[in-house]
Amino acid sequence: MTSKNITIIILIALVLGTLIYAQSIELNLPGNNQGYTPKQPIEFSHRLHSGDLQLDCLYCHTGADKSRHAGVPSASICMNCHNFITATWDATKLEEEQAKKEKRNVQTVISAELQKLYEAVGFNTEKMQYDKNLQTKPIEWVRVHNIPAFVYFDHRRHVNADVACQQCHGAIETMEKVSQNSDLSMGWCVNCHRDVNSGKITDLAGKNASTNCAGCHY
Ligand code: HEC
Ligand code: HEC
Ligand code: HEC
Ligand code: HEC
Ligand code: HEC
Repeated sequence: MTSKNITIIILIALVLGTLIYAQSIELNLPGNNQGYTPKQPIEFSHRLHSGDLQLDCLYCHTGADKSRHAGVPSASICMNCHNFITATWDATKLEEEQAKKEKRNVQTVISAELQKLYEAVGFNTEKMQYDKNLQTKPIEWVRVHNIPAFVYFDHRRHVNADVACQQCHGAIETMEKVSQNSDLSMGWCVNCHRDVNSGKITDLAGKNASTNCAGCHY
């Protein structure tokens, strides 16, 4: 049997499998989950970090141009700044003014949200240093985007071809909470690939994106 035949058989199996699966759990295909905005364990704001502070996306999502997955940063990246930034500028300023008025020493203000970060990494905020005696626990960020396992998607290919993060994820730098911008359906992928190949997306003119079934399905 040729590999093309095998691919077709696998695809037929996929259609049947998906239909049965979709019916059994009433999965809404395609276009499911667009607008999905889960609550996260720490209220991390892209609007603040990427918008106001203008941090580069790749500073935190270090895999996006090197591997299949963009990845979510480990807490140690947050600690590059938050080992000394313990609250917002406004809250720190307020405490300074208050202390002056009351003629007392300024106290370190620890934001409630950042306290969760310190607990995750075992950082003692009284000594302002890591404490080996404190337990650590990973931050369990809730995944927003998800495509099925039978679809092959690779960040590196897109990012290195100059497809902007925003073309797929929307204006993340304006979001207080990350929301799924596109429907992540097959039509969404294929339409962009077609528009790329026909030159309709002028900033991606000259690129070639495959519309072969086997390009996206194993
Ligand atoms: C300071 C670090 C940081 C920077 C800078 C940053 N992000 Fe994030 N990003 C995170 C963290 C932490 C999460 C997980 C929590 C959440 O969803 O808010 C995340 C989540 C995401 C998600 C959702 C992932 C999922 O679960 O599906 C996308 C998409 C994303 N970021 C894109 C971007 C883009 C695009 C930029 C640049 C405009 C950017 N990020 C800049 C830290 C960062
Ligand atoms: C061509 C569309 C596209 C582009 C461009 C793109 N993404 Fe994604 N991104 C996706 C899809 C689709 C998923 C879901 C992947 C999955 O479920 O395996 C995703 C998932 C993610 C996630 C969740 C974790 C992961 O790696 O799966 C993060 C974080 C993320 N993207 C950040 C970024 C950042 C930052 C950029 C720009 C540097 C970017 N993306 C560019 C489509 C894109
Ligand atoms: C480049 C430095 C930098 C990095 C890296 C960084 N932050 Fe921040 N973050 C800041 C600054 C500065 C502020 C305060 C801005 C202000 O004054 O409003 C802040 C504010 C916050 C706040 C708001 C606190 C409050 O009380 O409202 C949270 C929560 C937060 N960061 C979480 C994170 C997490 C989680 C990460 C890692 C994924 C991270 N930050 C990475 C600089 C950074
Ligand atoms: C905003 C436009 C856009 C969207 C949306 C998009 N892609 Fe792409 N894709 C591209 C471009 C441009 C390339 C060509 C990259 C290059 O020149 O190497 C590409 C290339 C690819 C390749 C490499 C195949 C090849 O050899 O040409 C795969 C696989 C792929 N995309 C899968 C997907 C999947 C799966 C999705 C949906 C989850 C998706 N893409 C969504 C623009 C897009
Ligand atoms: C550019 C990427 C891409 C190409 C090319 C592509 N697909 Fe898909 N396909 C996807 C994505 C992404 C999904 C998942 C859609 C979802 O979860 O809603 C999918 C889902 C499917 C499903 C599951 C049913 C469904 O609609 O969700 C079948 C069957 C399928 N594709 C067959 C094919 C066949 C046959 C071809 C060739 C004619 C093809 N695909 C080409 C990306 C692609």
